[in-house]
Amino acid sequence: MRNLKLETIVSELEQNGRFSLEKQYYQHGSTSVYSHSVQVAFFSLYLSRKLKLRVNERALIRGALLHDYFLYDWHDRDHGHSLHGFTHPGTALKNAKKDYDLDPIEENIIHRHMFPLTPVPPVCWEAWIVCLADKYCALKETFLPLWKRISVVMS
Ligand SMILES: [Fe+2]
Ligand SMILES: [Fe+2]
Repeated sequence: MRNLKLETIVSELEQNGRFSLEKQYYQHGSTSVYSHSVQVAFFSLYLSRKLKLRVNERALIRGALLHDYFLYDWHDRDHGHSLHGFTHPGTALKNAKKDYDLDPIEENIIHRHMFPLTPVPPVCWEAWIVCLADKYCALKETFLPLWKRISVVMS
């Protein structure tokens, strides 16, 4: 998966904040938060171009890359992360605002990406796309490895 625009923004975020830290944390299965975020950004861009939507691509990519910028291991229930699903968009937004200058589209992408689990919906196309792309990638990351294992056992 290659895209010059995406790669440029990834290295900007790596140089100017803590984006590389996401490599240390797992998201779904063996996928790191970093890799998940890059995949969500890639798929969001693909989707917006495929649907010919007029979006701010830079904000779309930055918001998608930072949507899970919570920077902790959410599997660690002993450290108060049992409500992670509900609280992490707020934590990600707080961390991202500390490290980067965000525009309102980027803020909305990060803050509303867990809709409908968190009940307030996104208000712009960019945030709707990331909300959708995130669910697609999460399902793929969770169930594809399981499906591969089942296929091996059944063959
Ligand atoms: Fe998330
Ligand atoms: Fe996510």
